[in-house]
Amino acid sequence: MKIFKNIVILTGAGISAESGLATFRASNGLWNNHKVEDVATIEAFQKNPQYVHEFYNELKKELVKAKPNAAHLAITKLQNEYPADINIVTQNVDTLHEKAKSKNIYHVHGQINQAVCLNCGHILETFGDVDTETVCPNCQVAGMMKPNIVFFGENLLYMDKVDELLRSCDLFLSIGTSGVVFPAAAFVQTAKYYGALTYEFNLEPTSNNFYFDHHIMGKAGVTLPAFVDEMTASLKNGD
Ligand code: OAD
Repeated sequence: MKIFKNIVILTGAGISAESGLATFRASNGLWNNHKVEDVATIEAFQKNPQYVHEFYNELKKELVKAKPNAAHLAITKLQNEYPADINIVTQNVDTLHEKAKSKNIYHVHGQINQAVCLNCGHILETFGDVDTETVCPNCQVAGMMKPNIVFFGENLLYMDKVDELLRSCDLFLSIGTSGVVFPAAAFVQTAKYYGALTYEFNLEPTSNNFYFDHHIMGKAGVTLPAFVDEMTASLKNGD
């Protein structure tokens, strides 16, 4: 295997499935049990903020308990042992990459342990409940905190940085994402256009699989550690 210098790893809900967290679009997934338009749009939040807060407070309780699995740990191993600039762009709002002690993590869809004040922009870090009464510790205004989750219709976070990373990477790995939510679904296209080798790790081929040079099918907790071993071995073998 070639030696890579700049690696971007895009992760989705599938990487956290083996940690016991529900994905979004599986038959028992979050979006099968809840309507996106009730809990994940800015209109829903404006109409019924308390309901939306309650949804994310409940989700937070689940996510807080979860532990990283072999796939998260394999990424940390790669970052520790492979001499490249390795960045993680995650669509996940859980903090399992952080718990696995990975670094260079960009939560483009936000993160569950944060709320953002719509009055002053302050980001509150909390694993406790946030509601319509919560006072912003920065501007002291009550009732303006929104879960720091990117709702449908909002811009993704860190996009300038992510775009720069996608244009300069020589290896792009996509792990456990269905590839149906844009713009993250188009990251592979950008990376490939600028010359990266692209891999998809999933249980099954996805709808945008056309842009992937390689498909590695199976549970990420199995396939990713094996792939990382192959990458680190290629350093020793000098191939
Ligand atoms: P999805 O639920 O759409 O897709 C999860 C993908 O993971 C599917 O393609 C599964 O086949 C795959 N998968 C499941 N278990 C796996 C495993 N053990 N190993 C490898 N792959 C596995 O989740 P996302 O693509 O992450 O947005 O969804 C994208 C966005 O849609 C989310 O970030 C969320 C949602 O609306 C926000 O919350 C802002």
